[in-house]
Amino acid sequence: MNIKITNETLENINAQAVIVFIVNKNFNHSWIKHKYALEAVNFKAESEESILLAEDGYIYVGCANLASDELRIAAAKAVKLLRQTSYKSVKIGSYMETTANESMRALIEGFILGSYEFTKYKSKTEPFNLEEITVSTQSYNQNTTTVEELQNAKNSAQIISEATNWAKEIVNTAPYDYTPVQMAEDAQKLTSIEGVSCKIFDENFLKDQGMGAFLAVNRASVHPPRLIHLTYTPKEKSKKRVVFVGKGLTYDSGGLSLKPSDYMVSMKADKSGGAAAMAILKGAAKLRLPFEIHAIIGATENMIGGNAYKPDDILRAKNGKTIEVRNTDAEGRLVLADCLCYAQELNPDLLIDMATLTGACVVALGEYTTGVMGYNDKLKHELYRAAAQSGELVNNLSFNRYLKKLLKSAIADISNISSSRYGGAITAALFLDNFIEEPYKDKWLHLDIAGPAYIEKDWGYNQSGASGAGVRMNLYWLMLQSQEGGK
Ligand code: BES
Ligand code: ZN
Ligand code: ZN
Repeated sequence: MNIKITNETLENINAQAVIVFIVNKNFNHSWIKHKYALEAVNFKAESEESILLAEDGYIYVGCANLASDELRIAAAKAVKLLRQTSYKSVKIGSYMETTANESMRALIEGFILGSYEFTKYKSKTEPFNLEEITVSTQSYNQNTTTVEELQNAKNSAQIISEATNWAKEIVNTAPYDYTPVQMAEDAQKLTSIEGVSCKIFDENFLKDQGMGAFLAVNRASVHPPRLIHLTYTPKEKSKKRVVFVGKGLTYDSGGLSLKPSDYMVSMKADKSGGAAAMAILKGAAKLRLPFEIHAIIGATENMIGGNAYKPDDILRAKNGKTIEVRNTDAEGRLVLADCLCYAQELNPDLLIDMATLTGACVVALGEYTTGVMGYNDKLKHELYRAAAQSGELVNNLSFNRYLKKLLKSAIADISNISSSRYGGAITAALFLDNFIEEPYKDKWLHLDIAGPAYIEKDWGYNQSGASGAGVRMNLYWLMLQSQEGGK
């Protein structure tokens, strides 16, 4: 899909169809040519309501206000209607004057995120004919925002949403096809982007490194594990080293603490944290951000078999700590423990891990929201600001000393599950905390994306299936940091 920005007025752009947002139910804008027809069919222009008047090539979408996520949703609704048509070209006016860059990004992201479809396994697909979207800058206040700035905003939005869609494609792919080796191959391919290098490690390296927790999770899988280490080095001197760590469980059956059938379905999505880490690195490299960025992914399956790790096993992680296994379904934290130890050897200024770690996080915050955990409130607030701009939903889950005590083990340094059934998202993060060394405590955030990573029923601009959770908020955060001089 080719997206163009032009100085031309909407009337002067040649396109087969036009998209018009009706903002705050105000039908009086000069772009709205079908006021009476719309009223006659009882179109109220509620937020997320849309209609196609095919004969005249008009698409109207309700939009409560011009906040960026409203625009994203509205653009995605327009794309949904366009899918039913054979239009090849469409034009749209612009709706914002003060925060033009942000609005432009939202518009473009809505189009690209909304147009994603997972068709890999379909024998027949409906063709999507749209080739060109032209955005008119007619109503932008040219004094405050130049067309060049808008062009940059468009380019970054395109990179960010394409990286998000790339993560969705990885997560949606079936576990038989998407093995740790496949994940490593996809990571390796990113080295075609300038500044990106990749190291892939197999089980021998994990043994040498003493990663007994990661290895235990892999034991009953027929697919060997991979530790993926991607690096993006900017051309100019880097201001900061940011390390992302992702849970890359290409399948989580629960292991011997087997999941009930209904809960096992969709566990191909347990690689979402890893996919997000790879997509962030891809996006950051394409945006040419001025930071040294690493993505560390622990890729393995969690399966059953005669050689499976068991409840009662005692594992030794890379940092020497022993772990009593009481539930093999709490496997993500075991893989992350070793990956986090490895990540800290890079001496990061910022350490972010992302994982579909707990069902408890979904219970706590709902399916739409990422749980944010860590010690540094300033970092959390920076992330909230970026997340709000990106349209991703986040919320804080606080640590406390009582929850920490629930991970005590009678026979090892720590148990892999809490002794209480409450507060499971936080106790999982507190387990990880045992593998964060003192100098990095304040540099670390844990993002539990178990809710939003995989969507049962479509919402907003997200299709059912993978959403690419974590990609946009982190890329927005990195962009904000680069604008603020990397402090
Ligand atoms: N991958 C799951 C968490 C999950 C659940 C992700 C639902 C997405 C949707 C994780 O490995 C797991 O099974 N966690 C257990 C932990 C428990 C055994 C302490 C859980 O949440 O039940
Ligand atoms: Zn599990
Ligand atoms: Zn899992």
